[in-house]
Amino acid sequence: MNDPDSVHDAPVRRVAAQSTTAQRRGAIVVGASSGIGAALVRRLVREGYTVGAVARRGDLLDALQEEMKLEPGRVVPLVHDVGQVDEVGPAFATLAQEVGQLEFFVYAAGVMPAVEAQEYNTEKDQLQVQVNLMGAMAWCNQAAMLFHSQRSGTLIGIGSIAGDRGRKGNPAYHATKAGLATYLESLRNRLSEVGVHVLTVKPGFVDTPMTAGLDGLFWVISADKAAETILASARRRFWNTRYVPLRWWAVGTVIRSIPSFLFKRMNI
Ligand SMILES: NC(=O)c1ccc[n+]([C@@H]2O[C@H](COP(=O)([O-])OP(=O)(O)OC[C@H]3O[C@@H](n4cnc5c(N)ncnc54)[C@H](OP(=O)(O)O)[C@@H]3O)[C@@H](O)[C@H]2O)c1
Repeated sequence: MNDPDSVHDAPVRRVAAQSTTAQRRGAIVVGASSGIGAALVRRLVREGYTVGAVARRGDLLDALQEEMKLEPGRVVPLVHDVGQVDEVGPAFATLAQEVGQLEFFVYAAGVMPAVEAQEYNTEKDQLQVQVNLMGAMAWCNQAAMLFHSQRSGTLIGIGSIAGDRGRKGNPAYHATKAGLATYLESLRNRLSEVGVHVLTVKPGFVDTPMTAGLDGLFWVISADKAAETILASARRRFWNTRYVPLRWWAVGTVIRSIPSFLFKRMNI
């Protein structure tokens, strides 16, 4: 007779449960409560991924989880402030365990406070270093260690075309995005040896809460379009740095080639 609670069946069921966890396709997105990060979560969950979604606004993460509940994958919300770097190790371990085999790690958290033309504000600068750069290092370090040990995975960092030059607008924002690109390049050079791909994403203008109300935007794309391009580029494994959309690559190339004696007279 088949007794479902038979002790003889128990080890079989445990093994079955473990293999289900291992076979689950997993992703983690930091900065998942709005904009590009939330759009990436939606796309991955629709494809069947279990996605660890990290941000401070738990209400938005819960709403995302509810919105996605009929999709093939699921959202695992985690409320966290990336400024709390000592919490990152345990938080990453919890999510990595929960989501199954980690295929994608995305660092999308970012802040860009308004800065006046002659404003030199250390508090705003510190916040940007904390969120755009230090938080990225703390989270990407964890992902790098896991991907290195499993010898697979794709690590994606959302930088910006704004990191290509030190413009007048927001010195700290430009500096943190430049720093992030260099940090990711180092990770790429370390991890490519074991088959791990590191993609630096440099979006142009994307319609998200970060750009809401800003003047002078052009070639604006939706967060979902940005997410679609980011995932397609990550899977292709051709790009190390991907401007999104691609036409910003031409803009970046021109901007990077302008000599300083001209660039300092320009208001771009
Ligand atoms: N929109 C654009 O045109 C554009 C262009 C180039 C690059 N980018 C970059 O794209 C990335 C995503 O930005 P977005 O446009 O999608 O803006 P967004 O909607 O404002 O998203 C920013 C995300 O970062 C999270 N975040 C901010 N501070 C955090 C903190 N201390 N701890 C944890 N999470 C934090 C926010 O979550 P909580 O507030 O809930 O914590 C939110 O989920 C950013 O790195 C941004 O610099 C955007």
